[in-house]
Amino acid sequence: ATDLIGRHFLKELDFTAEEFRGLVALAAELKAAKKAGAEVQRLRGRNVALIFEKTSTRTRCAFEVAAADQGAATTYLDPSGSQIGHKESMKDTARVLGRMFDGIEYRGDSQTAVEELAAYAGVPVFNGLTDDWHPTQMLADVLTMTEHCAKPLDAMTFAYLGDARFNMGNSYLVTGALLGMDVRLVAPKEYWPAESFVAEAHRLAETSGAKITLTEDVTEGVRGADFVATDVWVSMGEPKEVWDERIAALGPYAVTMDVLRATGNPDVKFLHCLPAFHDLGTAVGRDIHARHGLTELEVSDEVFESAHSVVFDEAENRMHTIKAVMVATMGDPVA
Ligand code: CP
Ligand code: NVA
Repeated sequence: ATDLIGRHFLKELDFTAEEFRGLVALAAELKAAKKAGAEVQRLRGRNVALIFEKTSTRTRCAFEVAAADQGAATTYLDPSGSQIGHKESMKDTARVLGRMFDGIEYRGDSQTAVEELAAYAGVPVFNGLTDDWHPTQMLADVLTMTEHCAKPLDAMTFAYLGDARFNMGNSYLVTGALLGMDVRLVAPKEYWPAESFVAEAHRLAETSGAKITLTEDVTEGVRGADFVATDVWVSMGEPKEVWDERIAALGPYAVTMDVLRATGNPDVKFLHCLPAFHDLGTAVGRDIHARHGLTELEVSDEVFESAHSVVFDEAENRMHTIKAVMVATMGDPVA
C-alpha cells in the first residue's frame, strides 16, 4: 500500500505517478469496502479541521462523510466564521490548529496560503481548492475515468474545453502529464495555463510518455477523446462583470452533442467537477438568461443529462478519494 503518512496533499506536482495511482487504488478499495459493508476504520480518534474561505457542497461533505465513516471527527470553519486572514495570520493559525488537529483541509484563493499553512501546521494539510489547483478533484476524476474506460490510464485520451487558466485546467494538464495521458486543453490562447505550468507538464511528459496538446480548435482537440470535460466559465472569487467577456470568448467551447460527436467515439464520457450551468436551476443562470437569453453555458443540458455524462459518479468519488487521502496520510497501518 502507498505510504504517505505525514505527507501534505497540496498539489499534483508533489506526487509521483506511482503515489498518485496508489491513492486512486486505495480509494477504489475503500469504495468497494463501504459498498460491501466491510469498511475498516483507520482514523479513529483523529480530528480534522475543515477551513473554507470559499463556499462548497461536494468538498466539505466529502471530508465530513469520509471522516465519519473512518471514525474521525471534523470541525468546519466557514468563510466568515474564523479569524484567519482578518485578525490572525496564516502562520499563527497553522501553529494553533496544528496543536489541536491531526489534519487540516484548506480551501481559499491563494496557493501560497495553503503552502504556508502546511509549512507551519506540523500535521498533514489538504488543498480543498485554490485558484491554481484542485488536486482532490483530480483523484476523483481519475477514479471515475478508470471506472468508465477499460484502457490503462496511459492509453486514455482526455480533452478539457473552456477556461484552462484556472484550477481545473491547470490540474487536468499536470495530472494528465503525470499519468501519461493524451491530454488536450481546448481554449482560446488567452485562456491557456501559465507558461510555467505548461513547462512542468512537458517535463513530466518526458518520463510518463504523455502527449500534451494546447489548441484553439475544438474539432482537432476532441478527436478520439475517451473523456471530454469542462468547468464553469467564471470561478469563485472572480467578479461577476467578467461573465460577458467569458460568454463571448468561451461560447464556441461549450460542450454540446456536436462536440461529443466530433470525438468520433460513441462511448465518450463527459466529466464536470460541478457546480454546472446547464439549465435555469441557479440564480446566476437565471441572471445570465435575463441578460443574454442563454439557458446553457459551459455544457448543454442535453449532454449533462445524457448517458455520456458521468458527473454524479465523479461527485460520489470525491468522498471515496478524499477518504483515501486522509487514510493514507493520517491512518492507522493496515492490521
Ligand atoms: N467540485 C467541487 O469542488 O465542488 P464544491 O465546490 O461543491 O466543493
Ligand atoms: N473553477 C471552479 C471550480 C469549482 C469546484 C471554481 O474555482 O470556482
